[in-house]
Amino acid sequence: MQYNPGWNGSSVNLLHVRAVGRGDTLHYVWSSIGAPAALLVATASGSSALRLNWTRLLSPDPTGAVWIEPASSVVYSAAVVFTKVFEYSQTKMLEELFYPTYDLSDFSWDSVNGTLNHTALTAEFKGVPATDPGGSFSNGSLAFRVTAYEVGGRDGPLPSLLHTANSSKVEFVLAGVAPRGNSSRFALEVAMVEEPGVAQKLRSARSIDDEYTPTIFEMLSLVAESQNDSSPLSFLQWKATAYGSQTPRREDNIQCRSHSLQAANWSLPVSSLVHAYFGEGVGSTYTISAINISFGGEDGQVYQEKRYLSWSVLLGFGQPPKDTFSPLVISIMAVALGTPMVMLLVGSCVVFFAQRKRYSEYEPIN
Ligand SMILES: *[C@@H]1O[C@H](CO)[C@@H](O)[C@H](O)[C@H]1NC(C)=O
Ligand SMILES: *[C@@H]1O[C@H](CO)[C@@H](O)[C@H](O)[C@H]1NC(C)=O
Ligand SMILES: *[C@@H]1O[C@H](CO)[C@@H](O)[C@H](O)[C@H]1NC(C)=O
Ligand SMILES: *[C@@H]1O[C@H](CO)[C@@H](O)[C@H](O)[C@H]1NC(C)=O
Repeated sequence: MQYNPGWNGSSVNLLHVRAVGRGDTLHYVWSSIGAPAALLVATASGSSALRLNWTRLLSPDPTGAVWIEPASSVVYSAAVVFTKVFEYSQTKMLEELFYPTYDLSDFSWDSVNGTLNHTALTAEFKGVPATDPGGSFSNGSLAFRVTAYEVGGRDGPLPSLLHTANSSKVEFVLAGVAPRGNSSRFALEVAMVEEPGVAQKLRSARSIDDEYTPTIFEMLSLVAESQNDSSPLSFLQWKATAYGSQTPRREDNIQCRSHSLQAANWSLPVSSLVHAYFGEGVGSTYTISAINISFGGEDGQVYQEKRYLSWSVLLGFGQPPKDTFSPLVISIMAVALGTPMVMLLVGSCVVFFAQRKRYSEYEPIN
């Protein structure tokens, strides 16, 4: 993990996470220059390097300020941008009343430097709106907590997502922000930037097993697939829940809903990092899709009470990790299926012995 490589200041944040394999390298570049975003680049070289032209990156036209060397080693690039936070209430007529949107590209972000943990591989991007006339953020903040992984495994705290060494986690946290209505709910808008020839598919998987995330049975994956052969290139994956506590327990669930994926004619989110890498205007080649993730059930009560909301999403290359049945569920199934099995076995033994006995009563013919 490297903070602002090649730049001495900490007034802006750029975090480079590099994972080196035998013949390949994965680059994750997180930045809050513009809307908070993550750039994902996979290369077929064990020594590819991230290059930055800071003068250009911090200028009004950052096109070309971020690149990978050697350029020929790049096999796949994509970006995820956290664009906006919406706050809304439902009126008596069941209409949704929207409060002014929080545009995350208009936030001011604390320095990530002090939050870097090189052992746990974590960092936090914490911000407040640059102008906050209503004072909603006077005692609160919004944050993106990033975790990189060296090996596969499962997170301890809920939602206990399964991860691989090729993935990273980002936790969206709204803490202490005063809601603007009595039954406010929040939604986060996430945009995906892909090269042409890549299609995003939203998939939902339901399981009977909730051992790792009690009471939550739905897992969602937004997978970027190659249009040629449908091979998965990258993904976002999350459980259909957020939590209303820093130490989440089952009862702190906040309902999380994924709205429909919006593809095409979506204008490029304001993110310097995305412009810097993919370019802008004529000649730039990427497609954009976006999705809203909303938090809060019927009445938005949990946030109202706890003033805390955390939602975790895994971001990675290749195929999203797939949960198998937990040991508990396997043993329950074994017991449930096992009992008749044992009875069948015991039954057939009895028959066998009974038959042997019967046969033995026969006298040999000769
Ligand atoms: C960085 O970008 C600036 C502005 O576009 C340019 O003048 C400068 O030559 C670039 N520096 C390098 C090392 O490429
Ligand atoms: C600010 O937040 C802290 C911790 O969440 C809380 O204890 C305190 O009462 C809050 N103050 C105001 C003025 O809301
Ligand atoms: C919000 O709740 C407060 C206190 O419960 C009440 O006085 C106020 O009228 C409510 N506002 C709305 C818009 O319902
Ligand atoms: C998210 O919801 C807001 C408010 O309804 C809407 O303006 C915006 O276009 C939505 N974004 C996506 C990607 O659906």
